[in-house]
Amino acid sequence: MGKDDPIKRFEPNIDRIKRDILALSRITSPTEPGYTRLSFTDEDRKAREYIAHLMEDEARLTVRIDPVGNLIGRREGEKQKPALLLGSHLDTVRGGGRFDGVSGVIGAIEVARRFEEKGIENIHPIEVVDFIAEEPSPFGLSTIGSRGMAGKLPPKLIGSLRDDAGRTLEKAIREIGGDPANIDKAKRSSRDVLAYLELHIEQGPHLCSKSIPIGVVTGIVGISRGKVEVIGKNDHSGTTSMDVRKDALAGGSEAVLVLEWVCAELAGVVGTVGRVEVFPNSSNVIPGRMILDMEIRSLSEDLLHKAASSFREELERIKEKRGVQILFEIGISSKPVVFDMNMVKRIIRVCEQLGILHVKLPSGAGHDANHLAEVAPTGMIFIPSRDGRSHCPEEWTEFEQVCLGTEVLACTLAGIEKDAALSSGHFDF
Ligand code: GLV
Ligand code: MN
Ligand code: MN
Repeated sequence: MGKDDPIKRFEPNIDRIKRDILALSRITSPTEPGYTRLSFTDEDRKAREYIAHLMEDEARLTVRIDPVGNLIGRREGEKQKPALLLGSHLDTVRGGGRFDGVSGVIGAIEVARRFEEKGIENIHPIEVVDFIAEEPSPFGLSTIGSRGMAGKLPPKLIGSLRDDAGRTLEKAIREIGGDPANIDKAKRSSRDVLAYLELHIEQGPHLCSKSIPIGVVTGIVGISRGKVEVIGKNDHSGTTSMDVRKDALAGGSEAVLVLEWVCAELAGVVGTVGRVEVFPNSSNVIPGRMILDMEIRSLSEDLLHKAASSFREELERIKEKRGVQILFEIGISSKPVVFDMNMVKRIIRVCEQLGILHVKLPSGAGHDANHLAEVAPTGMIFIPSRDGRSHCPEEWTEFEQVCLGTEVLACTLAGIEKDAALSSGHFDF
């Protein structure tokens, strides 16, 4: 087979893709709104059982759980060769949708199923990964599985992070089948990973509004997440006059608006306060304490710093003005990522060969690919989100679009294999 032969199509099975995405959408918390499958819950475990069965029975993969808790199905290739990784996540946000993460996992499984059905003898092992806890988890940390694969989860950290019930992340990883005592063995490197590819919904409006079916992702925003704690004074709401109050909720609310303003002023930055806690949260008590979970995102590290320091200055101003205490700490953050140009070019070339309209674009959402990009050359393929909606029950992508994205994923993977074959001489499909 020569380098310029026409591309071979994989023709993913749309019925199977639809069946699996809908089956997973039914594995949702009965008590939460929308589609909710939080990491380390029974729903997450059941969803993983569902895909483990697909991996074993339909794709003939060998399934294992790595030390950090990632569920991995492997199709062997030549023993000593580094693996090609495909994957995404099954966990959702609270009240989320049906396609975020799931389309990438099912797309990856479908690629493995097509390799099996076509009897392709791949040279490089192929691994399909469901990364554990991509979304913000009950332990206050997101992208746990991919952080572990990048060697960024020190034992001290997993022993110290706790959920609301006091359970450590270490214990949760053990309960899901991981081996936290050997967390360092979850780390992968370019010696055993040749490349990582992730299919994902765009979660924004660009592809949908321009009717472009494929986005070739050039990079991912960096995310700085932090906590603001405002400490005022609990007092009687009826007897405390307005001029002497130390209302933590009022101060915290000003902080929410200030973050919005700071980020709107700086083009190329977005900032959100997505979660708050108010104490004592009682209608006739002036709130004495408020906690805000905030984040800032940008493709520029410089802008991330600028936004965080302007926000800090504004918090000082609120503190002085209101006579409250304000503590602000940026926690575990991720840096902006620029993807390997060769991977971007590969995906573009596949789209050209398949005659698919495509556009290059950055990702405003975080992904496991952030961390995998530190392990091996990484590429991401986006498919449209209807009206740009995501992290909500309305999140929708047509199954034909998931299928097309899966075709691009399969052909990109096959292109990497083909190049390897050209240098060792025995790959065909
Ligand atoms: C993940 O969905 C994120 O961007 O927070
Ligand atoms: Mn998400
Ligand atoms: Mn996602």
